[in-house]
Amino acid sequence: MTPLILATNLKDYALLDSGNGRKLEKFGPHVVDRPEPQAMWPTHLPQSDWDKAVAIFTGQGDDDEGAGARWQFKGAQPAPWPMEYGKTKFLARFTPFRHMGFFADQTPHWDFMLEQLKRQKQPGTEQPKLLNVFGYTGVASLIAAQAGAHVTHVDASKKAIGFARESQELAGLSDKPIRWIVDDALKFVEREARRGNLYDGILLDPPKFGRGPDGQKWEVFEHLPALLAATKEILNPKGGFLILNAYAIRSSFITLHDLTTLTFPKSTLHESGELVTPEKFRPLRIPTAIFTRLVL
Ligand SMILES: C[S@@+](CC[C@H](N)C(=O)[O-])C[C@H]1O[C@@H](n2cnc3c(N)ncnc32)[C@H](O)[C@@H]1O
Repeated sequence: MTPLILATNLKDYALLDSGNGRKLEKFGPHVVDRPEPQAMWPTHLPQSDWDKAVAIFTGQGDDDEGAGARWQFKGAQPAPWPMEYGKTKFLARFTPFRHMGFFADQTPHWDFMLEQLKRQKQPGTEQPKLLNVFGYTGVASLIAAQAGAHVTHVDASKKAIGFARESQELAGLSDKPIRWIVDDALKFVEREARRGNLYDGILLDPPKFGRGPDGQKWEVFEHLPALLAATKEILNPKGGFLILNAYAIRSSFITLHDLTTLTFPKSTLHESGELVTPEKFRPLRIPTAIFTRLVL
């Protein structure tokens, strides 16, 4: 297996600079300054560029809830603003969790998903069915719906799904077939397996820890094997695709690759690697997530 290193290419997003444990990014009209423990090199832009940040996330390391972890705004907190991936519009916003309510580094997954949906959409066939599990604010769900898929989006957070619906309206996709479901990921997928439902594409973006809507515990190392086993039951064995992504877990993409090889020994394509965000002006990259993806 040759590891894939896939870089984001989102319009209106740029990693302008990084260093000294911070990163300076542009999200549409807003420049923001956030912690980045991996940026152990020096910065290169002058302080006057860093001073353009309208929001600074204070607090260090990976702990978004640690002491002092919060946004500090220069002036009023900006209202949610539109961003675009291809033809799909969605809303970005400042969340309490150090990010902008979506993950700019995920564009390679969206590209792959679109390629696969296009392959599956043969003239005379039904619209492909996509399941987005741990789908959060739904950018991938909107992109898939815009590309003509029937989408089922599952997340434990009502609030995240509320944000997703706002983006759906902004994107002009209110008439598209998207089922927004507040449920526990494992419970939902196991139920779909019992019902014998099949999907042509499945996205899994599990957090390290989480809670279902009824307090169900999610712990990636404990529950991912069961989730994959249930996912296998509902992934179309004729050309279905799976993208499994993970942030901030103490593991390598090799583990994701090998675990999915055990679950899906007969794929026609199976590749794994890391998502990275390249700096705009220097040949430096910030790795953000590990992933594996396969086609049956
Ligand atoms: C890492 S984020 C997903 C990121 C998203 N796919 C994206 O690209 O924007 C994790 C999501 O998992 C959800 N979550 C956590 N535990 C869950 C559970 N047990 N069942 C369903 N969703 C859960 C959270 O509400 C959160 O929206």
